[in-house]
Amino acid sequence: MDTTLLTKYDVAAPRYTSYPTVPYWTAQTMPESSWLGRVQKAADLAPALSLYVHLPYCDSLCTYCGCNKHITKNHSVEEPYIETLLQEWKLYCAALPGRPILNELHLGGGTPTFFSASNLRYLIENLLKTVDLPEEPDFGFEAHPWSTTKAHLQTLYDLGFRRVSIGVQDFDEDLMKLVNRSQSIASIQRCTKDARAIGYTSINYDLIYGLPRQTPAHIERDADFIAQLMPERIAFYAYAHVPWLKRSQDAYSEADLPTGADKRLLYEIGRARFEALGYEEIGMDHFALPQDSLSKALKMGVLHRNFMGYTTTRSRLMIGLGASAISDTWDAFAQNEKNIADYQRVVQEGNLPVFRGHFLDAEDQLLRMHILNLMTRFETRWTEEHPALSAALVRLEPLLADGLVEIEPMGVKVSDAGRAFLRNICMAFDAHYWQKQPEGRLFSQAV
Ligand SMILES: C[S@@+](CC[C@H](N)C(=O)[O-])C[C@H]1O[C@@H](n2cnc3c(N)ncnc32)[C@H](O)[C@@H]1O
Repeated sequence: MDTTLLTKYDVAAPRYTSYPTVPYWTAQTMPESSWLGRVQKAADLAPALSLYVHLPYCDSLCTYCGCNKHITKNHSVEEPYIETLLQEWKLYCAALPGRPILNELHLGGGTPTFFSASNLRYLIENLLKTVDLPEEPDFGFEAHPWSTTKAHLQTLYDLGFRRVSIGVQDFDEDLMKLVNRSQSIASIQRCTKDARAIGYTSINYDLIYGLPRQTPAHIERDADFIAQLMPERIAFYAYAHVPWLKRSQDAYSEADLPTGADKRLLYEIGRARFEALGYEEIGMDHFALPQDSLSKALKMGVLHRNFMGYTTTRSRLMIGLGASAISDTWDAFAQNEKNIADYQRVVQEGNLPVFRGHFLDAEDQLLRMHILNLMTRFETRWTEEHPALSAALVRLEPLLADGLVEIEPMGVKVSDAGRAFLRNICMAFDAHYWQKQPEGRLFSQAV
């Protein structure tokens, strides 16, 4: 591991779940009619869509968490929230040109398993009444091992879910106590065993490296558990430290956070162990077994990445339902009201709760495609010169000198050494960033 390069490239950098990245979106208000126009155009071009449903509640606060969530122990919030989701979906259905085909459905959070199995069934059954399904729909959900019951797993399986993503973070119970996460090794084992017995074909574990006081020994132990349990996929996230956005991250001292080369070492230890077990690194921070659909999609060159993470489904239209959810028509993004009460009020008044967004011009769409290619194939090529692409090649010259990329006259390939710096490589294509570099802190560190 070259520590000089790690130090050199450890700058604040986006994770590129969207391009342009959210801080650079220009529409600070999003007129409903403009947004629906884009949705209708996308549905006309391709009637199959992806649906993301944001279920924001959690029973307790994990202090590392960077997601949009609301902490409560009051479960009476479940029913009204679900009714609002269904009302929001109805507003979309009224605007769509025909009955949509639901290719992909993802329940994220917060903690989807905060909701009772019967409330989730009510939600999904009502959504499914309004759509047609392809032969093999891709339905998945995020499961907190502490709150996921057999009833959750069975109910969602019966409704067509075949993927479950279990939030593990780290197997060490003391480390989890330090970040205020209620979790036991036994709960992860039970959840995995139940999911397999019920018939789930793709189990993912979310792991995080770079948590406070996490050491190489923790990652080695995580890998020992992975060897026993062998989930099909592993999301091995770099801990994103953004205390200016998430105040709960102030709960521990920055001196306890592994940074730079120490942090990267945690990833390298995990990567070596996972690869020895047969996992393939399919994209940034993501691993899959060769028989999993993500590995197959990578080999076939059809891997995709969106706000839900890496996926095999490339829908032109992705609708996000729920507070803070983001929707995407490829040529526009829109985000829903983040505050749950505001979100519910706007929907109950009969309006779509989108509050901000971005309309992508031709250059945005071009750069978006190349960033997506780099994130999903570790390379990108073009057939026509464009000033924004020439500018990216110039910005990549220092990375070429450091052996992180190979540059062709009209293309870029990430080298093996460059994979650790994928965010920095994508940044070369981020015209918005270079036009106006941020004054305050926006992004977590690249390493
Ligand atoms: C939206 S969260 C939902 C998971 C679910 N609430 C649970 O706790 O099991 C999805 C994943 O994001 C990851 N995550 C959350 N905060 C993060 C952070 N600050 N840095 C890196 N990954 C983070 C975690 O791995 C988490 O499992």
